[in-house]
Amino acid sequence: MDNRPIGFLDSGVGGLTVVKELRRQLPHETIVYIGDSARAPYGPRPAEQIKAFTWDMVNFLLTKNVKMIVFACNTATAVAWEEVKAKLTIPVLGVILPGSSAAIKNTQAGRIGVIATPMTVKSDIYQQKIKLLAPQMQVTSLACPKFVPIVESNEVKSSVAKKIVYETLAPLIGRIDTLILGCTHYPLLRPLIQNVMGPDVRLIDSGAECIRDVSVLLNYFQINASRLVKDRQNLFYTTASVERFRHIALEWLEEDINVERVTL
Ligand code: DGL
Repeated sequence: MDNRPIGFLDSGVGGLTVVKELRRQLPHETIVYIGDSARAPYGPRPAEQIKAFTWDMVNFLLTKNVKMIVFACNTATAVAWEEVKAKLTIPVLGVILPGSSAAIKNTQAGRIGVIATPMTVKSDIYQQKIKLLAPQMQVTSLACPKFVPIVESNEVKSSVAKKIVYETLAPLIGRIDTLILGCTHYPLLRPLIQNVMGPDVRLIDSGAECIRDVSVLLNYFQINASRLVKDRQNLFYTTASVERFRHIALEWLEEDINVERVTL
């Protein structure tokens, strides 16, 4: 048993899509979340800068006595996960491997699409991991640089969002049967994405898939939280507007949360 919290990091509010799945599968675990919305989006930034920002978030979570860190961000996973994992003594999980294996399991025709930030696409990491596990797969990647700003500004229901999603995804229509949402912000655009791609395309939520791995590791290291603890307190930190973060969290998690502003 280990009642310490699990740390989640993301460039902004996207990691809440991963937290939502944790709340569903492992509701007795406590959460500490850091979202760096003040410096989002990370995707168009150089790798060294993303690495430095990710270390800022990791070091912040370590001051909160976390028992495990989940990189609830594909971009941070692509550039910094290997390095951070090698340096810490607690388990550190990323979202890319779970997303890749789920896509391989789900595809019927072996034609997998990956939509992600410019850095995740540039790193070629999904293509590499998928090909390693299943060389026969055809992988088509597409950067969607306009998606994260739509989510961070809470405009997912606007007509502009609809237009941008349609225009961006048009090159993938009819070419794939499975689509990895390779950025944790994208599940907030899921209805629009599904609508553009059509009902036959299976959408894979990389963040949600990663919670299955969290569960396996908690069991493996025997660090599950006790179900008997009553007043566990989840803590959410943002580097930008508390109000905006709370508003998005309220809609997405369907619960009111405590949010504090921090500077990294
Ligand atoms: N949620 C992050 C991801 O999964 C978004 C990165 C960004 O801020 O561009 O990649």
